[in-house]
Amino acid sequence: MKIAVGSDHGGFEYKEQIVRFLADLGVEVEDVGCHSTESVDYPRFADLVCARVQSGACDRGILICGTGIGMSIAANRHRDIRAALCHEAYTARMSREHNNANVLCLGGRVLGIEVALDIVGVWIETEFAGGRHQRRLDMLS
Ligand code: RB5
Repeated sequence: MKIAVGSDHGGFEYKEQIVRFLADLGVEVEDVGCHSTESVDYPRFADLVCARVQSGACDRGILICGTGIGMSIAANRHRDIRAALCHEAYTARMSREHNNANVLCLGGRVLGIEVALDIVGVWIETEFAGGRHQRRLDMLS
């Protein structure tokens, strides 16, 4: 599996830790930035990650900003992107099983790092359940 990961300055430090966590799990990572805590605009990084997922270059994406809200709004403007803003492991799991979320959004200023890594781990390993959930996703396109 290959995951595109991006953040703004509000999510930069969590992005760095998430990239290491994914690498330790053996997941291939493409880090699209940002690369410091210098202030940047989150839509740019949402666009980069979503483009990697839309093209098929990456299987899924992870976006981190201060609250996760800006990234989720920006990501969900992209066709075929289903971005889920998650604050704990249950919604992360359900976002995969029921919604086939292909982008995970996190808030670096509202989550502890252990909770954030727990969410990432569950989200990475959970598969889409299909069936009636696919019918509902078809209604969104
Ligand atoms: C940046 O200060 C902050 O607005 C951003 O990281 C994010 O929380 C936006 O939704």
